[in-house]
Order: sequence, then structure tokens, then C-alpha cells
Amino acid sequence: MMSEKTQLNIPRHIAIIMDGNGRWAKKRLHPRTDGHRAGADAVIRVTQAARDLGVEYLTLYAFSTENWKRPAEEVGALMSLLSHFLDSKLEKLINDGVRLKTIGRTGGLPEPVRSKLLNAVEKTRQNTAQTLVLALNYGGRAELTDAAGKIAADAAAGRLDPEKMDETVFRQYLYDPEIPDPDLMIRTSGELRLSNFLLWQLAYTELYVTDVLWPDFDRNDLVCAIEQFNRRDRRFGAINESSL
Ligand code: FPP
Repeated sequence: MMSEKTQLNIPRHIAIIMDGNGRWAKKRLHPRTDGHRAGADAVIRVTQAARDLGVEYLTLYAFSTENWKRPAEEVGALMSLLSHFLDSKLEKLINDGVRLKTIGRTGGLPEPVRSKLLNAVEKTRQNTAQTLVLALNYGGRAELTDAAGKIAADAAAGRLDPEKMDETVFRQYLYDPEIPDPDLMIRTSGELRLSNFLLWQLAYTELYVTDVLWPDFDRNDLVCAIEQFNRRDRRFGAINESSL
């Protein structure tokens, strides 16, 4: 365990599109909600594994702005899972030193999920071992549109000089400017899409797609993704020293 940690360059921030819960359930002839339940177990397992490996920030795409289009029963099941997660794991998050954050239009989430989230974020605010970011009612376009609205309002009120707009200023209008851009983005279950996830933040992120379905994703799969990340040559648009 320790050798992995010392040999590998561990990404500071990993973001994950947790896809494949439905297919996992279908393969077993179970209702889709069983897949989400197994997906919630994977959330616990992978959060723990990421913490053990020294990943500082883990962002999980738990509910998108498009997920409201799913049948009401499935949306309800996802909200109950989230509510149950917050009830049953808050104590553990606190004890493990995990700081919970959210990104997304969380004001649009139903009660009691909304107030449980606010409570969990507040109770874990001072924790420093790891930051777990749940993307909830999140869409990359919604985030950029919300930023544009706040920028327009600040400019109209004279709080922002349009001449001063640059990437550093723009970033301050994202949902949580403190969170660094992801170094590695993992998508499970094989789809080669961004699905409206972190459109601004993923500009230079390394992408890793695995066929493993989210409920099956474990510590070993996470290590494989990090090993692959270690073989990438990150240049951020420049060229590397050896090419000079
Ligand atoms: C995608 O699988 C997954 C989701 C839309 C929801 C993710 C939610 C969880 C993992 C559980 C709840 C989260 C927490 C934080 C407790 P899919 O249903 O699109 O799968 P499919 O593409 O195979 O149908």
C-alpha cells in the first residue's frame, strides 16, 4: 500500500463521472435503483481509497442538471440515497477528516436533501484530510451561464470593470473557485463523452475511460487510472524540455 503511494505521482484532484449503474443492474435483471444503491457503496469505497492514496480533492458527478429527465421514481430513489448517505456517513466523514463541498444549483434540490447537505458542509468545514466535492444538480453549461449572470450583475452595479476581465477574475465566478482544476478525470463504463461535466475546469485535465461499471469500480481500478496518469506527458500547451 505504502509503496504505491511513494512510487506514484498522485494527482491532487481526481474528478469522476460515475456511469454504468443502470447497466450493472440490468446485467443482474435488477431494477435500476439497485444499481444506484451499489453505486453509493462504491462512493464510500472509492472515497476511502482516494484518501489512503493521498488524493486531496475528489469530485463526483452525482446528479446532473439533465438527470431530472429520468422517471420520477428513479429521481426519488437517487435523492433518498443521497439523504441516506448524508445521515449514515456524516459521522464517518467527520472522523476521517473529510471536508464535504458541493457544486451545482443545490438550491434546486428537494428537502430534506438540501438542508442535510448544508448541515454536512457546515459540520465538515474545518476538516483537512481530504475534500469530497459532490456535483449535484450540476451542469457545466449551467455553471458558466450562472457565472455570466453574476458577472453581468456585478458589471451593471459598477462592482466589476469589464476591462479587468481575465481568466483569473472569471474563475472567481465559478461555483467554488477554491477547488483546483482536476488533474485526472475518470469516466466509468466506456462512454467517450464529457456529459456537461466541469467544462471550464477540464481544459487541461488528463482523461481516463474504463469499461468497468461504476458499482464494480474499486481501489485497484483507481490505482490503474493513476498509473496510466503517471505515463502521460502533461504539457499544458507548451512543449517539454526534451523537445527543445
Ligand atoms: C450514472 O449511471 C449514475 C448516476 C446518474 C447517478 C450517480 C449516483 C450514485 C453513484 C449514487 C448516489 C450518490 C451518492 C453520493 C451517495 P446510469 O444510471 O446513467 O447508468 P447507465 O448509463 O448504465 O444507465
